[in-house]
Amino acid sequence: MKKGYDYGMVGLGTMGGNLALNMNDNGFSVCGYDKDEKKVTGFLEHGDAENIYATADIKTFTDSLQSPKVIILLVPAGKIVDAVISDLLPFLMEGDIIIDGGNSHFTDTQKRILDLADKKIDFMGVGISGGEHGARFGPSIMPGGSVDAYSIVEKMLVAISAKVDDVPCVAYMGKGAAGHYVKMVHNGIEYGMMQLIAETYQLLKVNLELDNDAMHKIFAQWNKGILKSYLIAITANIFVQKDDLSDKQLIDVIKDTAQQKGTGGWTSLEALELRVPIPVIDLAVAMRDMSAYENIRSEAHQLLKGPTIEIFQNTQGFIDSLERALYFSFISTYAQGFALLSAASEQYQFNLNLKNIATIWRGGCIIRSAILEDIRFAFSENDKLSSLLLNKEIAKKLIENQDSARSAVISGVKNGLPIAGLMSALLYFDAFRNIAIPANLIQAQRDFFGAHTYERIDKEGKFHTNWNQIN
Ligand code: 6PG
Repeated sequence: MKKGYDYGMVGLGTMGGNLALNMNDNGFSVCGYDKDEKKVTGFLEHGDAENIYATADIKTFTDSLQSPKVIILLVPAGKIVDAVISDLLPFLMEGDIIIDGGNSHFTDTQKRILDLADKKIDFMGVGISGGEHGARFGPSIMPGGSVDAYSIVEKMLVAISAKVDDVPCVAYMGKGAAGHYVKMVHNGIEYGMMQLIAETYQLLKVNLELDNDAMHKIFAQWNKGILKSYLIAITANIFVQKDDLSDKQLIDVIKDTAQQKGTGGWTSLEALELRVPIPVIDLAVAMRDMSAYENIRSEAHQLLKGPTIEIFQNTQGFIDSLERALYFSFISTYAQGFALLSAASEQYQFNLNLKNIATIWRGGCIIRSAILEDIRFAFSENDKLSSLLLNKEIAKKLIENQDSARSAVISGVKNGLPIAGLMSALLYFDAFRNIAIPANLIQAQRDFFGAHTYERIDKEGKFHTNWNQIN
């Protein structure tokens, strides 16, 4: 080992190990630290000690770094982050920087920033997306924290990030916990898109009785058109994966109970708090939750008889229409995520640049897709756009594809399929589009039973009526 490694990496698991190797490929020397000796040994095999080193001893680790020390944490969110910080603190000095690259809740990040500011240590919450492959070869990076700290690490983050047309998929998000906030919303959108794709898969499977090979072809074809995206691409590949443990295809032996680490739910809770409707994301979380109720589902399946399944005849017509329905629903989901970012920017004074966010999500991350190019364009025309639905080009795309979205929903409802995402993508469009929604009746009811007052369409002010009471 040498003295003066450029960066320290705490956590040499999949994400930390791969990100460190990526940093090293880009000319930065890295010393890793992990309590697990096996991970340390595995990491040491990746390079010569000039560029890469690792240890399970925290003092050796911190002593090996140049000053100011810049230490990246890639450890599971929650208490472990705090434990690592307190282990590191005795070895840190004023001006050192800790970067949390995991999926921490933004309020935890905010608290850590304040706690460490007392010790004059800069704490940055940096969202990193792209999974194992992204970490190794170029993720999308969402850094938040002080501008000064960012200026110290900017060159490295730019170097290791994904690039789209030579534009790096990293940009300073804002002060405080802005980076982790943006990553949380990224994950909410990820939940939404995954749910929508899963529903489309069910529609193809039930309504058209297609097999996995046909599904592979459809998704591969879709990935060449308007739906071009990382999630559609991996879905195409999933359908041709053979199972190692049986003679079946792998997708057919995977249990239909979805797990979650929580970032989608955080997005929903946060949106409820700020009163920003994000129904696709909410329903994506609810559907993962419902999938986990195995016992109720199996009993209900025996008891609750649904409609007789109708097989659709116009196969190609149905597939093409579904492509447009999914496109419509993806746009609706992005619109919901960006609306939350827009509200949060004001609420927390993050001063988010929505165009930059669309730009850095075009590559490296899980939700990258061709649609983000249009979204980027919408925000470059108006960076204060409060809803993507109000951009003329986006609106045109939604209008053109709404019939397909409606047909997909109808086909699913007819066959009794739980297509919550597709329904709520359409609901989002219709709720904003309708000039009159029946909230007048809700106001009347509130005033009836609770004298909560209502506003009128023809006069200013608050009104209360003595309603004819029921007996
Ligand atoms: C990413 C992903 C990643 C996330 C996983 C699992 O951007 O690389 O969002 O950060 O942790 O996708 O999330 P769930 O376990 O909640 O599905």
